[in-house]
Amino acid sequence: MPQLAVVGSQSAGKSSVLETIVGRDFLPRGQGIVTRRPLVLQLIHTPVPDPSSPNSTSYTEWGQFLHIDKRFTDFNEIRKEIEQETYRVAGQNKGISKLPIHLRIYSPNVLDLTLVDLPGLTKIPVGDQPSDIERQIRSLVLDYISKPNCVILSVSAANVDLANSESLKLSRSVDPQGRRTIGVLTKLDLMDAGTNALDILTGRVYPLKLGFIGVVNRSQQDIISDKSLSDALDAEVEFFRSHAAYRNIAHKNGTKYLARTLNQVLMNHIREKLPDMKARLNTLMGQAQQELNSFGDAAVYGDANQVCYVFAHMLNSMFNREQQGALILRLMTQ
Ligand code: GDP
Ligand code: NA
Ligand code: MG
Repeated sequence: MPQLAVVGSQSAGKSSVLETIVGRDFLPRGQGIVTRRPLVLQLIHTPVPDPSSPNSTSYTEWGQFLHIDKRFTDFNEIRKEIEQETYRVAGQNKGISKLPIHLRIYSPNVLDLTLVDLPGLTKIPVGDQPSDIERQIRSLVLDYISKPNCVILSVSAANVDLANSESLKLSRSVDPQGRRTIGVLTKLDLMDAGTNALDILTGRVYPLKLGFIGVVNRSQQDIISDKSLSDALDAEVEFFRSHAAYRNIAHKNGTKYLARTLNQVLMNHIREKLPDMKARLNTLMGQAQQELNSFGDAAVYGDANQVCYVFAHMLNSMFNREQQGALILRLMTQ
């Protein structure tokens, strides 16, 4: 299954973007270097156990780290644990570490997907950072984004000239055709009065096959005053709708559109891999046939339920999650 990683300069808004995609508050964000270890975040679609109480999200969504045997239902605790784990391995003073933190989020509201939050690209060592910090972070980011199955969210802030974008430069070095790079333009709300990013968002400045999507994340003040994610999403919709320059492209911008685009890109990615999967499926079909044979003639010729059962079982062992099975089936029948 494909991965999704963020790349961008420090404080461009990478963690903020990931968090809004997941739809929960749980990532440390802020000015300066905050993300100091890779966070490999595996989203696992988990159906609601009790449909009669759909509001008990705190019980139906939880997080689990690889390094600690505990189920976190409070997402503020998850953030604190990420901070603790960062301090433990990367120290108190701005150091970074290649050692990833592994976190799984189980939720009825997510698609099966792995997201990777990464430290931002910087130029100058601060705190305990070594003199070659620029090279170290670059190599750390490359470890993730150079994998061909990695979809890259290349994040740039709209209040910095795009010609300076380190993220686009690095993304292009591993994906020259721009097949798996989505441009994300943050901080549209912070641009100088009288300027706007319309040309970038409509692809007239820098060509990217999958395009640029503008977003407005929560500001530092919003974080301090604990502005909720849903309020922030509403405000973002309003921002695009009411902005003279963006009104006409509002439907192709914002976090919700970004999430939808991501799904589409990931689907296409899976579709490209489909020939491989079909081959595996054939092998499994052969195994299933043998299994069927072992049930005797009745199963082979008569019992449709049994056939369905074996087929479902087969898909399950292939993709682990029924959701993925359903997705593949949909793709195969298209
Ligand atoms: P990262 O270093 O790239 O992960 O960036 P963060 O997500 O930690 O954000 C850095 C700072 O920028 C935080 O204070 C955020 O509140 C702020 N920020 C991020 N995106 C936006 C945005 O779209 N608008 C505004 N006003 N602030 C933003
Ligand atoms: Na930051
Ligand atoms: Mg960050």
